Amino acid sequence: MKSYFVFEKRYHPQLIIMKSKTSQVIRDWAKSKLQSVDAGHDWWHIERVMINAKKLYTIEGGDWGVIELAVLLHDVPDPKFFDEEKMLQEIIAVLNEEQLPQDDIEHILQIIQNLSFSKQWSHNGFDSLEYRIVQDADRLDAIGAIGIARAFSYGGHKGREFYNPDKKPQQYNDAMAYRKSDSPTINHFYEKLLLLKDLMKTEAGKKMALQRHEYMEGFLQQFYSEMGQ
Ligand code: ADP
Ligand code: NI
Repeated sequence: MKSYFVFEKRYHPQLIIMKSKTSQVIRDWAKSKLQSVDAGHDWWHIERVMINAKKLYTIEGGDWGVIELAVLLHDVPDPKFFDEEKMLQEIIAVLNEEQLPQDDIEHILQIIQNLSFSKQWSHNGFDSLEYRIVQDADRLDAIGAIGIARAFSYGGHKGREFYNPDKKPQQYNDAMAYRKSDSPTINHFYEKLLLLKDLMKTEAGKKMALQRHEYMEGFLQQFYSEMGQ
């Protein structure tokens, strides 16, 4: 998918900037869709995931055209904010309008549909290097300093408590129960964020996750000490 490669200076300063129409069209379209979500899922999340994906791609390889478009589009069908099925149909329409090859469209859709942590209960077995890179890039943005900020942003958006020692972290058996949970935000660290380092799929992603993971552990220690525990 070389024809719509885009290397922007801020992601990859040593590479020539090659703007492509498709990537610009998809970028503008996805940006307009993500205007109403919380600060943790807004356009800056996409920008950060793109930076992570670029780092992983540089080490791991893969088809950058597919990776880039999947990153741009991955949160448009997020059921936390949108009608998932309707958004998938819109994505198919916009990619067809850009005349992307059908196998690239199918690949991008498979990546997006199997990406989310909450898809662990409905994963269809799909796998590819590009999928691994986009998923690791997205997960890196869920941990570390940014991960902490995003968790409390989402908790605030949902009106959740920071912490309540009487409410213990849970184990969920399906996506509905996971999404419906009203656990305090600190519990989300045990229910998802601290699990991610062992779920990373690329070697480069595993290395990057380690330092961010340790930072979160330090944060939790400090949090409990300020709670007098
Ligand atoms: P994915 O991006 O894999 O679909 P989620 O939908 O679970 O994962 O969450 C994306 C991000 O939203 C999380 O990394 C976290 O920052 C925030 N988030 C989701 N659910 C919660 C929650 N219950 N408490 C705090 N933050 C949450
Ligand atoms: Ni995301």
